[in-house]
Amino acid sequence: MSVYSERKNGKQVMTTKITWLGHSTFHMEASGKSILIDPFFEDNPVAQVAADDVGADVIIVTHGHGDHVGDTVRIAKRTGALVISNFEIVTWLQNQGVANAHPMHVGGSHDFDFGTVKLTIAHHGSSLPDGSNGGSPTGIVLKTQDGNIYFAGDTGLFSDMKLIGEEDLEVAIIPVGDNFTMGPDDSIRATQFLQPRTVIPCHYNTWPLIEQDINDWSRRIAADTSAQPAVLKIGEHFEL
Ligand code: NI
Ligand code: MN
Repeated sequence: MSVYSERKNGKQVMTTKITWLGHSTFHMEASGKSILIDPFFEDNPVAQVAADDVGADVIIVTHGHGDHVGDTVRIAKRTGALVISNFEIVTWLQNQGVANAHPMHVGGSHDFDFGTVKLTIAHHGSSLPDGSNGGSPTGIVLKTQDGNIYFAGDTGLFSDMKLIGEEDLEVAIIPVGDNFTMGPDDSIRATQFLQPRTVIPCHYNTWPLIEQDINDWSRRIAADTSAQPAVLKIGEHFEL
């Protein structure tokens, strides 16, 4: 598959492509790199691919919960992907034999060859599946050549989303499932704070507890915010 699929200003450039793999798991192509966010496949009832069939150059993990750390150890060991997460989660992964890992923490940015990663706050928990301390939960602002993308991670609404909204977001990916994270009502307010051009929902319809009417959500986003809703089916992608 060619990543040179688009022309901008007369020269070929690599496009940035975001594919939803179900729940909070996303695959991105950015600067020719393959990036997995919160890779949760084996215990994910809506996953359509197996952990052993997924490629990755980079894995970014927002927090320690099992539905986000997911299959990180297994995929990282097989692919040698660089894993980026907070310090506590990176230490936990290293203790399980993940060799290629980069620790960061909330507020910090770092330039990688695919773009700049900044970890942001999230209001949530982050304990790891074996009960270890997973530090603070995070969101991610990923600055790519095609624009800035915000992955909120698991979080409730917080007013500092206004500050994240000052980062000129092309896309915001936010949880809408309610119960464990923001639900539809607060996700509308989050979108008003974030002011992205496009908003993509996640963390819904994985289990009955987080079922939502996503068409209704989409209509509300279009009516009440300046963002375009982009509801992806599992396996569908959005191109920047
Ligand atoms: Ni969580
Ligand atoms: Mn979760």
